[in-house]
Amino acid sequence: MAESLIITGASKTDKYKSLVPQIKALVEGEPDMIANLSNIIAALKQAMDFLWVGVYFVKDLTPALSGGERGKRELVLGPFQGPIACTRITLGKGVCGTAWKEKKTLIVTDVDQFPGHIACSSESKSEIVLPVFNKKAEVALVLDVDSSKLNDFDETDKMYLQEVVKIIEQLL
Ligand code: SME
Repeated sequence: MAESLIITGASKTDKYKSLVPQIKALVEGEPDMIANLSNIIAALKQAMDFLWVGVYFVKDLTPALSGGERGKRELVLGPFQGPIACTRITLGKGVCGTAWKEKKTLIVTDVDQFPGHIACSSESKSEIVLPVFNKKAEVALVLDVDSSKLNDFDETDKMYLQEVVKIIEQLL
């Protein structure tokens, strides 16, 4: 794997263009999912300077925390970079829970206008959440990216972050 990231260009497109191949190289030959996700998240944070970037895994409810309920699933915090975040999110709650439920990428230009938005950090103003699918076409995790600026994500972010999602999907 490469030892350091080299991000060229000033525009968002140029930064993503130099970043995505380096993310591919970063995970090459390494089978450990947590190690790979940790480095992918660190690379995104370092290159794009997002407020918060990380993943939430779809996991079985922990019976000890849910009154013994089994068979249901929830999102549980995984590797991330940025301010501390909420640990668990239920299906359909917040932007992450909605992206999971609807199995689609959501761009939220103003989080205060999103019904049920989970405010982990008051600094977060806009966000994009992308579902990551396993080989059975189920959502295995979501990639969540937050910005301290309003309206900071657009189709360019969606397109290049989708490339990152594809790299993660190949690891699943
Ligand atoms: N804002 C998210 C919760 C996760 S944090 O932003 C890290 C949401 O509403 O899903």
